[in-house]
Amino acid sequence: TTGNTDRHHITDPPDFPGARSPRCPFDPPTQQADWRRARGLREVRLTNGRTAWAVTRYDDVKKILSDPRISADGRRYPQLMNSDRTEQPQAFPRMDDPEHARIRLTLTGEFTVKRVETMRPHVRSVVDRFLSELVEAGQPADLVHHFAQPIPSTVISLLLGVPYGDRAFFQTRSATLQFTGASPEDKKTAHRELFQYLVGLVERKETEPGDDLISRLMKERVATGEFTAREVAMNSLVILHAGHDTTANLIALGTLALLRNPQQADRIRETDDPRVVARAVEELLRYLSISQDLVFRVATEDLVIGGQLVREGQMLTVSVPSANRDTVFEAADTLDVGRDTRGHLAFGYGVHQCLGQSLARVELQEALPALLRRLPDLRLAVPLQDVRFRHDTATYGVYVLPVAW
Ligand code: HEM
Repeated sequence: TTGNTDRHHITDPPDFPGARSPRCPFDPPTQQADWRRARGLREVRLTNGRTAWAVTRYDDVKKILSDPRISADGRRYPQLMNSDRTEQPQAFPRMDDPEHARIRLTLTGEFTVKRVETMRPHVRSVVDRFLSELVEAGQPADLVHHFAQPIPSTVISLLLGVPYGDRAFFQTRSATLQFTGASPEDKKTAHRELFQYLVGLVERKETEPGDDLISRLMKERVATGEFTAREVAMNSLVILHAGHDTTANLIALGTLALLRNPQQADRIRETDDPRVVARAVEELLRYLSISQDLVFRVATEDLVIGGQLVREGQMLTVSVPSANRDTVFEAADTLDVGRDTRGHLAFGYGVHQCLGQSLARVELQEALPALLRRLPDLRLAVPLQDVRFRHDTATYGVYVLPVAW
């Protein structure tokens, strides 16, 4: 173990998440793999300057994310919030059960496997449309701008009933919330603007309802007094924000990983079995584990985790990328789209496990094979060294991905 925080440090704790190897940009930050092998927790400095315990082992991550003594409550522990949002309703990912469960349960019906499957034909047509736009853009084209970003934005906008034409507005604000280097004031402003936008939209839906999630919540939950319109706006903000950047990053980074591993790409391109595609997508989720600076908790009492004493009120930062490379997966650092990935933690674990995972899966299962089939000669249009990776955002990915075909 590494001692406890009562000890005075001679050196500053290392920065989290830390640098990745330029040779293998898909691997977790190098120091995290070292910590995982050394076992125990590591005291680290977060991007916002706070200290936290980094949890890098698979078993420890599962324990923490399922332990009721570990909290995600942002009102009780403001250190979990990256800016002051006290003037808005609390977002449910930053609540503990039973309060969290009460809100989450009103939304789970929208995201069941069955429900999301009914959206698959629509997702497929959205993918086709942006594939055509990518081709029309001409070579080289930026796959992030023309393909990876617009697909989840369109799908989530349609699900919520957000006019697609407003996406520039919410994308710039979302980018500020994602960027770990943005100041708390900028984050607060971005969050407030997004929230106000959604309050306005929710009010419009009250008089002009559509066939969308916000209208359904207004009818089923606000009319009954269960939610206020401001709470509906906050839930919508959570879904809008969580639902497009994550998936966009995985589409783009997944494409790059497949371009670097052509045999794996062939297995996806050449199959007509949706189960093979589904398996491949799970492996990309595991291998790329984009949630690099996103999963935070606080200990509500003194407890020992991985042999380390964690004191009440201390923060924990969960490394999904590292946990998914632990020895529970054989040859974990190898991308193998045929492998059994059961138990991977790419969508988290426990009560906060990703609400939108079925939707993310359908988007990825539709986007990646369609891209590989439509453009069989797809290739990176610049050297790998010139690709700018997103080291400084909550989810990992690439800023721009110039491709040719
Ligand atoms: C939670 C990853 C796509 C909505 C989470 C968590 C992870 C995650 C790791 C757990 C956070 C924690 O425990 O603190 C991902 C990845 C995605 C993805 C890798 C895409 C590849 C989506 C989509 C939506 C969504 C498409 C919505 C449509 C949410 C919500 C939560 C969440 C609402 C909070 C759940 C709660 O606290 O109960 N996601 N996500 N995600 N995700 Fe996703």
